[in-house]
Amino acid sequence: MQAAHLLIDTDPGVDDALAILMAHHATTVTALTIAAGNVGLRHTVANALKLIDVIGAETPVYAGCASPLVRQAADAAFVHGQDGFGDTGYVASARRAENEHAALAILRLSHEHPGRLTLVALGPLTNLALALRLDPQLPSRFARLVIMGGAVNGRGNTHLVPAEFNIGFDPEAAHIVFSNWPKFDLVDWEATVRHGLDYADFARWLEVDSPRAKFYSAISRGTRSWAQAQGRERLYSADALAMAVALEPEIVNRVQECHVAVEMNGEFTRGATVVDWENRLRRPANARIILGVDQARFEDRIKAALAAR
Ligand code: RIB
Ligand code: CA
Repeated sequence: MQAAHLLIDTDPGVDDALAILMAHHATTVTALTIAAGNVGLRHTVANALKLIDVIGAETPVYAGCASPLVRQAADAAFVHGQDGFGDTGYVASARRAENEHAALAILRLSHEHPGRLTLVALGPLTNLALALRLDPQLPSRFARLVIMGGAVNGRGNTHLVPAEFNIGFDPEAAHIVFSNWPKFDLVDWEATVRHGLDYADFARWLEVDSPRAKFYSAISRGTRSWAQAQGRERLYSADALAMAVALEPEIVNRVQECHVAVEMNGEFTRGATVVDWENRLRRPANARIILGVDQARFEDRIKAALAAR
């Protein structure tokens, strides 16, 4: 059964690229809306356009917000490269982003495809927060929202310790989304670590004779080396995991529905995702926290996406 059609909000980024390859291999991608995050908006937009060329698709790309809603934040160029795609010096796409702002495109596409799109948020939630502020009814026009973000037990991946990057980059935007979207799937950093990929396996998957695999091998080389140099036992691909959950909801084998809030203050706590595991505050659960997926089916989707021509 084909997966739902997708609208992907993303800050490409190396793991975003794998997720976008997975999406285009499996279903129809209605649009890519682009955020700043891993690197600046100029690069994330250029990376999205280049990736669409490599895929050979016609997916429209919409540029979004160039900065977080309130406070500036550090990017993740040290992970993804200064250009966000491993600094390979790729030849830029001749295509350009659409003239419409990402937040406005999200609103328009939700009206054009009412109740039919799955929205997959793979970067900071700045664009989605703006769209929600413009139209609080937005959630009612999407079939589903899958967010890659957070660290449900405080084991984040940023210098803020409990914060995961997407939430920590724009906590105010995340607060707006978490407070105004009735129910979303949350794929957090801790699940990403539990579902890490074997480096040697991944390198083998990249050897397949396909332009997509060759491109991804090049842009991910630096990130894979960096991860191993950091002593990470496996390769963590957060956005690929979130995309697998978006494409194949049945892949999930462990989930818990809880209320999750975003901390916006505190020298060490800004960007933390705070989970009311025992529902002590008696607030409605806004998040389906994805705690486990079928690893083999997750990896099969990655392999298939890289091998696709
Ligand atoms: O913490 C991981 C997330 O932050 C991923 O979406 C990665 O691309 C970065 O945006
Ligand atoms: Ca991302």
